[in-house]
Amino acid sequence: MTGVGTAYDRVSRINHWVVALLMIGMLILGIYVFKVLPRGPDKGALIGLHKSIGLLVLVLGSWRVAWRLKQGFLAALHSGWQEKLANLVHWVLLAGIVVMPLSGLAGSYFGGRATGFFGLFTIPAGPKIGWIDSLAHGVHGAFAMIMIAAILLHVLGALKHALIDRDATKARMTGRG
Ligand code: HEM
Ligand code: HEM
Repeated sequence: MTGVGTAYDRVSRINHWVVALLMIGMLILGIYVFKVLPRGPDKGALIGLHKSIGLLVLVLGSWRVAWRLKQGFLAALHSGWQEKLANLVHWVLLAGIVVMPLSGLAGSYFGGRATGFFGLFTIPAGPKIGWIDSLAHGVHGAFAMIMIAAILLHVLGALKHALIDRDATKARMTGRG
């Protein structure tokens, strides 16, 4: 379904920016915690934070993606390869919003590790099933790289529309001209 409105609705705009910030923050946090930080007490606490925020993204992000699927996208302002690429990138980003937290959770659950949510409740460890654990972690790591590439393309595209084309793309997601 495709809409022809002049801007995304208010709910879509809030959804977009809240989940965008969370996803960018989580990609940075994930790389910092798991690729940079040495083992230690800080690492344990930050892994807990990574999982808690990840669960929050699973809830907010699923609702955000469902809302987009229900409402449809606005029709592209132009046509051509750049718009086709932009649409493809939007689908990859939407997929990642769900795949990232789900694969993280599946990896922990079937890796036999519990997942807490800001100390409020804990999803207990599941049965240890090695192949699901490694598949989920493989997907988690690979999709993280795909998301970084997609976000870079997405932001470059947004900048081009704002600074070079100077068209209404920015206004469609900020609500102002
Ligand atoms: C600072 C970073 C970002 C900027 C400046 C930005 C800007 C925009 C703009 C201007 C649009 C409207 C495009 C149109 O009207 O066709 C848009 C749409 C979209 N953006 Fe972003 N965005 C950013 C980060 C992100 C991130 C991190 C994600 C995903 C995790 C994301 C996912 C999407 C998606 C899926 C759409 C399509 C409409 C929707 O479902 O919201 N964006 N973005
Ligand atoms: C917004 C959602 C999420 C994003 C963007 C994200 C991002 C990342 C990134 C960038 C890494 C480092 C890549 C690597 O080590 O290969 C990572 C690793 C990891 N993440 Fe996440 N993550 C998310 C959600 C979750 C959730 C919900 C959990 C668990 C409940 C989780 C558990 C892990 C674990 C255990 C690792 C260690 C690396 C591994 O063994 O694969 N993540 N995450």
